[in-house]
Parts: sequence; C-alpha cells; structure tokens
Amino acid sequence: MQLKDIRALVATDLEAVDLEIRRQLASDVALVSQVGDYIVGAGGKRLRPLLVVLAARAAGALNSAHIPAAALIEFIHTATLLHDDVVDDSAKRRGRDTANEMFGSPASVLVGDFLYSRAFQMMAALESPAVIRVMADATNTIAAGEVLQLMNSGDPDTTELRYLEVIYRKTARLFEAGAQIAAIVAHAPPDLEAALARYGKHLGIAFQLIDDALDYRGNEAELGKNVGDDLAEGKPTLPLIHALRHGDSAATRMIRDAIEAGGTEDQGPIRAVIESTGGLDYTARLAESEARRATEALAEVPASAYRDALGALARFAVTRNA
Ligand code: IPE
Ligand code: IPE
Ligand code: MG
Ligand code: MG
Repeated sequence: MQLKDIRALVATDLEAVDLEIRRQLASDVALVSQVGDYIVGAGGKRLRPLLVVLAARAAGALNSAHIPAAALIEFIHTATLLHDDVVDDSAKRRGRDTANEMFGSPASVLVGDFLYSRAFQMMAALESPAVIRVMADATNTIAAGEVLQLMNSGDPDTTELRYLEVIYRKTARLFEAGAQIAAIVAHAPPDLEAALARYGKHLGIAFQLIDDALDYRGNEAELGKNVGDDLAEGKPTLPLIHALRHGDSAATRMIRDAIEAGGTEDQGPIRAVIESTGGLDYTARLAESEARRATEALAEVPASAYRDALGALARFAVTRNA
C-alpha cells in the first residue's frame, strides 16, 4: 500500500480537512494570509492530518470532529516549520524558497505565532477539555524540545540519548498527540486511546530518524528542501553521533570541529566517515525498530482497513525518499 492508496481510503475526509485549513487561514491582516497561503499552498505531505483522520476512523469515529482536529494539528506543524526555518536558517521548504527567504524572519515568526494561536482557537471550539490538556502539554513539550536541540547544537558531546530525547519532543510528540486527540474525539475507550498514542509516538520517532538520514543521503528535488543543513548548522544528529563514536581519531577530530564550527564547507570528508562507519544504516535500523513498535501498538486496535492503512503509514515513514 503506497501513500496515495492510504490517502485514497480517506479522500473525502482529507478534502474536508483541506477546506477547513483554507477557511481557518483567513485573517483581516493581508500579510498573515499572504504568508499563510504561501506555505500552506506549497502543500507538504500532510502526514499528520492523515494520521489523525485514520486514527479517528480506526477508533470508530461517527461524527466529523476529527476534521478540525486534523486541521489544527497541521497548523501547529506548519507554525513550527515557519519558526524552525528561521532558527535553522533554511532556504528551501516544500519545493519553494522558505517563508523567511521570501518575506523575512520577522514575518515568519509572527505568522507562525498566528497559526499556533489559531490552532488553539480551533481546539477551544471542540469543547473538549481532554483535547486541550493533551495539546497544551504537547505544544509545551515541543517548544522545550526545540530549545533542547538548540542547546545540543554545536556540542559534539551530545549523546544518542540526548538526541533521542530531542526528536521525541520536537517531532514525535505531535504525532503522539494527533493520534491521541483523534481517539478522544472518536470517544475511544482509554486502552484504545493509549494504543493509538503509542503508535503515533513510535511513528514520529521513526519519521524524524529518517528525516535526519535524508539530510545526508536525500535528493533535494524530491525532498523539496536543502540537504546538508544539519551539518551546516552543527546539529549532532544520529548519523553524525554514530560516526563520532566509530571513526578513528583523525575522523573524530574533524567531526568535532565541524559540529563546533558549523558552516557549509565541503561536507564530503564527513559524509565519507558517516558512510564508512555505517551511520546511515544504523539510523535506518533504529527507525525500523521504532516502526515495528508502532505496528505492535496497532495489535490493540480493532481490525479495519483504517488500521491496515496506519500499518502502511509506518512502512512509508521508513521507506520514504521524500
Ligand atoms: C518536516 O516534516 C519536519 C520534520 C518533523 C522532519 P514533514 O516532512 O512532514 O514536512 P511537510 O509537511 O511534508 O512539508
Ligand atoms: C524538525 O526538525 C523540526 C520541527 C519539528 C519543527 P528539522 O529541522 O530536521 O526539520 P527540517 O529538516 O527542517 O524539515
Ligand atoms: Mg529544520
Ligand atoms: Mg531535517
């Protein structure tokens, strides 16, 4: 089952999510709509709303409360991207110049705040204290995760454990929360809510591990963003942490210097060490084991085409090139 088949299963829901996203982007301030339309119009994979819709359907959703839930998760994601591209000084996103390149960092930060707070308005409209509690905790964890990453940035002593803590917080927490609020709005029993949340968490970790591998081995045209940004930012992601642990002393020195200094100089020698130490394979294996844990969580979800699609989504997270 490919991504397009997964999407086809919930095509009507996804169209409704798209409509809701467009409706909620509206603002009487022109620049808000302009920047919002710019980044949202570029599309993106829309994986998180897909996850929310599938999880809600797998939990037996009868009404349509999962539509705004899916849209608001995408808003939070998009807000973090607007902020992330400023922090990471990134030039490409979703096949276009980043919003910070196009409109400047101030507009990106402020419109990111607009999307963030619009997501909370949408949450309030759901009138579910449980949803608000989950999302308040999740967004706070994500924000702290980004700060934790900032602290690791430029630090060659960042351990695998510290790295894993960052990717759980900054990325997996939103997948986890998305699956959990899908269960809540579908009135799922607590066990099912916990199983879907666990699925989302492991899916999210697998997804970010592969994102970090793709930053070294991906294709810019396919990904729609620049590769090599992590090393340029001195970001110690798992391929690099692995290379540091297993490279010889000359390689270790070179990598430590690169993490401390950042910069976009020739990445060839460092990529060669990542290659020779198996850093990308190591990262892919860990992603596989996270995808397996995601799939195991699905054993507690009633059998349905939606559950199968969630299984396929976990496969996509680890086999993707974009
Ligand atoms: C990018 O997420 C940020 C990460 C958590 C790696 P996506 O790869 O889902 O971005 P879009 O929404 O498809 O552009
Ligand atoms: C994901 O990290 C960022 C967020 C969760 C906001 P990255 O910095 O690796 O994401 P990309 O590679 O820029 O999409
Ligand atoms: Mg980034
Ligand atoms: Mg990345």
